[in-house]
Amino acid sequence: MRPVHPFAAFLLLVAAPLVAQEKVDFARDVQPILSRSCYECHGNPATDLKGPSKRPKGNLRLDGKSYMLERHGEAVLTAGKPASSLLYELIALPKGDPDLMPPEGGPLKADEQALIRRWIEEGADFGAWEGNKPGAGQSPVPAAAPAPVTSSRSRLYEELGRGLEPLPADRLAAAAGGIALIEAVAQGSGLYRVAFSAHEAEVDDAAVKRLATLGDRIVELRLGRSRVTDKALALIAGMERLARLDLRETAVGDAGLAKLAGAKELRYLNLFGTKVSDAGLPLLVELPRLESVYLWRTAVSEDAVAVLRKRLPKLSVVTAPRLPANDEEEPAPRRRRQAN
Ligand code: HEC
Repeated sequence: MRPVHPFAAFLLLVAAPLVAQEKVDFARDVQPILSRSCYECHGNPATDLKGPSKRPKGNLRLDGKSYMLERHGEAVLTAGKPASSLLYELIALPKGDPDLMPPEGGPLKADEQALIRRWIEEGADFGAWEGNKPGAGQSPVPAAAPAPVTSSRSRLYEELGRGLEPLPADRLAAAAGGIALIEAVAQGSGLYRVAFSAHEAEVDDAAVKRLATLGDRIVELRLGRSRVTDKALALIAGMERLARLDLRETAVGDAGLAKLAGAKELRYLNLFGTKVSDAGLPLLVELPRLESVYLWRTAVSEDAVAVLRKRLPKLSVVTAPRLPANDEEEPAPRRRRQAN
């Protein structure tokens, strides 16, 4: 055998991954990753989850093609566009991000992330794989009347939305302005959750102004990584039933936070990676129902957090990557239950 020159060997090593661009095969390459890292929480309720009463987390199953494709609201998969596919977006978040998937033991290895990304880029082709299907080979868990995803959250929305009729589609479309995803929190509910998956860069204060036409009908608003500024917070404060607000990695700072004062239904506030500082913290006291606040990667000091914890002992203040436990949707309620 002819010896390979060391430099040539080096070149082969570096070049190999670039040359070997064989198409990603879902069943061979991607499905095993999902099975190992995701099915525990996003699988068949009867066979994959511990205990019969558990429902797939986030109401999302990843163990069948049809479940992954036919989802309302934010697209789990958009062929060709990993950045608009929640499936990729949530596995590629930075470590410590509260939405990172899987929530424990994550993130996936870089090469696993890259495979999934490439699979979506190449068209999210499932090949012959179909996985589990609604109806076929299903659990004895009744398919009708699914249990709520987060029972406490669903109960809250039921309460907040009592007596409200769904809004007409044209009004929702006008508020969405072609970029927002607005979906009812439950079938027949008059309350809505809003996200801008993949359109964050187009979302500015004007987009929030359009949404404000829905007034008190918005209960969840995800503005993470958008271009909203402190000005938008005055509009958001007018959304009287708002329970969850995500402002992560925006330019929002203390002045914006001040405008939120009095948001009387706000339970969850994500300020991860914002400009909020110590000066903003006392304002959280003016949010009477706040249960959890994310302050990871802000300028807030440990001392200020200590003061806040003392003043609001029941508030869950997340200042470091702290991830929800296996069977919890949220870290906050768990802490409370233990405390009581
Ligand atoms: C330990 C449980 C657990 C594991 C493991 C897990 N997830 Fe999740 N996942 C959740 C929970 C809980 C939610 C709902 C979060 C919420 O609604 O705030 C969720 C939500 C999601 C969503 C968003 C659904 C939506 O519409 O908001 C996607 C996409 C997702 N997970 C993908 C994955 C992927 C991909 C994996 C594997 C790499 C994974 N998850 C592993 C618990 C898990």
